[in-house]
Amino acid sequence: MSLLLNQPELLSKDHYLLKIEMKETDFYPGQFINIKASHNTDPLLRRPISIFDAEGNTISIVVRVIGKGTELISCMKPGDIDVIGPLGKGFTIEKNKNVLLIGGGVGNAPLYYLMKILKTEGTKVTYIYSVKNKYFIFEKNKYQTLADDFIITTDDGSEGIKGIAIDVLKDKISSKNYDRIYCCGPDPMMEKVVQLTDINTPVEVSVENYFGCGIGICVGCTIDTVEGYKRACIDGPVFDARTILWDKMPM
Ligand SMILES: Cc1cc2nc3c(=O)[nH]c(=O)nc-3n(C[C@H](O)[C@H](O)[C@H](O)COP(=O)(O)OP(=O)(O)OC[C@H]3O[C@@H](n4cnc5c(N)ncnc54)[C@H](O)[C@@H]3O)c2cc1C
Ligand code: FES
Repeated sequence: MSLLLNQPELLSKDHYLLKIEMKETDFYPGQFINIKASHNTDPLLRRPISIFDAEGNTISIVVRVIGKGTELISCMKPGDIDVIGPLGKGFTIEKNKNVLLIGGGVGNAPLYYLMKILKTEGTKVTYIYSVKNKYFIFEKNKYQTLADDFIITTDDGSEGIKGIAIDVLKDKISSKNYDRIYCCGPDPMMEKVVQLTDINTPVEVSVENYFGCGIGICVGCTIDTVEGYKRACIDGPVFDARTILWDKMPM
C-alpha cells in the first residue's frame, strides 16, 4: 500500500492535488500511476493519472473530476491508498537544448515534472498553457516560475491570450527553431501540433485514451500506429507523434 499524505486540495475548478508516498523513488516524466478509486468493485477498473511532480519517494498528482472514479479520488481521506506504479514509458529528456511544451487542460499535469527535469538538464523551455477559461488554471505560479517563456491561452480570453494553443504555436515556430516539441492534451490539439510543425522537429505526445488494466494485459488501450498496434499503457503513454495514425484515434 502507498500512503495518501493530504486531504485532496482544490487547486482550481474540479482540479485536486494529491500527495502520495510511494515505495519507489525513481519516477520518469510522462509516467503514470493506476489508482483504485474505491474499496469495493465499483468502479471496477483503476484510474490512470499522470505524475505531476516527484521528490524522493513522494509524488503529486492533479486529478480533474469528470466522473465517478475521479470524484471518489478527490474525496479520499489521508491514509492507505491502493496505487500501482510508476507505469509506462516517459518523455525523451533533452540536455542543453531549446524546447517547446504545449499542454491542454489537465494535459498540463505531466508536463510540469517534465519541465522540471528539462530545466535541471540545462534546457530552455517555452511553455504554452492552454485551458478553457481562467477557472481551470492550476498551479500557474509553479509553471511560470520554471519556464523561460510562459504563455497562457484561454478559449474565452478570461486570462492570457484569447484563443487556442495552436494560434500561439504558429507564432512561436515561425520565429524560432525548437529542438523538440512535447504535447499533452485533447487528441485534435495534438494532431494539429504534428501537422503544423516541421518534419525535422521531433514531436512527443502523451496520449490519454481509455485504459483498462493499465499493465498490458487487456489491450483496451490499443492505438494504431505506422508500426502497427501499440498498447498505450506499456508502449506509451508517450509516443513519437508522427508514428500515430491520428485519423484512427477514437476522438
Ligand atoms: C496515461 C493517462 C494519464 C492521465 N492523466 C490524468 C491526470 O493527470 N489527471 C486527470 O485528471 N486525468 C488523467 N487521465 C484521465 C483519467 O484517467 C480519466 O479522466 C479517468 O479515468 C476518468 O474516470 P472517471 O471514473 O472519473 O470517469 P468515467 O465515469 O469513467 O467517465 C466520465 C466521462 O468522461 C469520459 N472519459 C473517461 N475517461 C476518459 C479519458 N481517458 N479520456 C477522455 N474522456 C474520458 C467518459 O466517456 C465519460 O463521458 C489520464 C489518462 C491516461 C490514460
Ligand atoms: S490498458 Fe490493458 S493493455 Fe493497456
